[in-house]
Amino acid sequence: MGVHIEQVVKIVREAAVIIRNREIDLNITIKGAADYATEIDFKVQQFIEKELKNAYPKIQFMGEEKSNEEVDFNEKFWVLDPVDGTNNLVHDYKEVAISLALFDKREGVLGVVYQPYTEELYTANKGQGAYLNGNKIQVSKVKTLSKSLISFGASPYYKELAEENFEVFKEIFTRCEDFRRTGSAAMELAYVASGRVESFFEKRLKLWDYAAGILLVKEAGGKFTGYKGDELELEVCSDIVATNGKIHSELLEILH
Ligand code: IPD
Ligand code: CA
Ligand code: CA
Repeated sequence: MGVHIEQVVKIVREAAVIIRNREIDLNITIKGAADYATEIDFKVQQFIEKELKNAYPKIQFMGEEKSNEEVDFNEKFWVLDPVDGTNNLVHDYKEVAISLALFDKREGVLGVVYQPYTEELYTANKGQGAYLNGNKIQVSKVKTLSKSLISFGASPYYKELAEENFEVFKEIFTRCEDFRRTGSAAMELAYVASGRVESFFEKRLKLWDYAAGILLVKEAGGKFTGYKGDELELEVCSDIVATNGKIHSELLEILH
């Protein structure tokens, strides 16, 4: 059965109501240092999983807040981050996203990133461009790092990477216009796609953080690779670099 993006978007919008409801007891589960899952993460995932299973019973479901051992990457599967930016949610810092992607034949074919507070909706279907609230978006035209606004993830759950990470951040910071850091990888990838920043990169990012973002960035004309410029393999965890394409090699020279 074909997947209709409108139906997927409807499910995601309905789930966003749960995120906006601060009345829900957050009931925080600690997964690691600064790595939390709240009641909201579980509720959003349960809701979306149930709705997708009803609508598309044959498609497998991968979600951050469950064990995903049974998921076969060679068959169709959804990848969900129910709340990307949980630490923001805990701090009531309103920069979070629901990120949902569909993979078929090991490739992203549909991506949705939704910001529940601003109600910005980023969507992409493979081969059909990327959209923000229904309007076509494109990566920025900036050609050099010196004219770029760069966002990044500091791998907050892997503090052992801090030294090498911050050495690289320092080098990039001295060569670009400025940094931005929202605390939601999915949103920052959507910002690369919509041309608000020229790049986002992060080490050891999980597939659910960037699955929708890959398609958004590529469909908006950008480039998405590993730190060595390599084509990303379909894996649960990767080092990723997304750019507008034009500053990709300049940035890789520093990252690598
Ligand atoms: C995290 C956010 C953060 C990024 C982390 C992610 P979570 O996702 O995207 O920006 O730096 O690497 O794990 O834990 O809030 O879903
Ligand atoms: Ca995440
Ligand atoms: Ca999450």
